[in-house]
Amino acid sequence: MLQYFDPGTFNRGTGGLNPDIDYGTPPSTSETLVSLSIDGTDIAVPEGTSVLRAATLAGINIPKLCASDNLEAFGSCRLCAVEIEGRRGYPASCTTPVSEGMAVTTQNGKLAKLRRNIMELYISDHPLDCLTCPANGDCELQDVAGAVGLREVRYASRVIIT
Ligand code: FES
Repeated sequence: MLQYFDPGTFNRGTGGLNPDIDYGTPPSTSETLVSLSIDGTDIAVPEGTSVLRAATLAGINIPKLCASDNLEAFGSCRLCAVEIEGRRGYPASCTTPVSEGMAVTTQNGKLAKLRRNIMELYISDHPLDCLTCPANGDCELQDVAGAVGLREVRYASRVIIT
């Protein structure tokens, strides 16, 4: 089982974490550990940690646009949706705190379709000039569109080039 204990690292340096990784939400300062399972990986993290951060600590990537480890999560983009055993719907992993015994699924067909549909709506209202855009190749929106497998936008009848 992976165990992470990083209370206070947000204000005291990296605490052994990789400074190049965005863990999705700030660390919890609790000294109480909570055990859960994410995609079959057992992990223990401080109480109050978000599911998104716990997944990142476990090396599991959940697509995200609005969350960052330098601001409190506000659950806007919904791309970080996950399934949690025993719970209805698809909660945002950035605003859902871990709980003892929680079993989280971050990847399956339903989640993939949901994320693609959400991303398609965002992209349908965005200029699709990737090839001539100065940010081409260094664009988070482009990266996430590729990560969720979006290749075509039905609403604007345009093709994304990633
Ligand atoms: Fe945007 Fe979670 S990352 S809702």
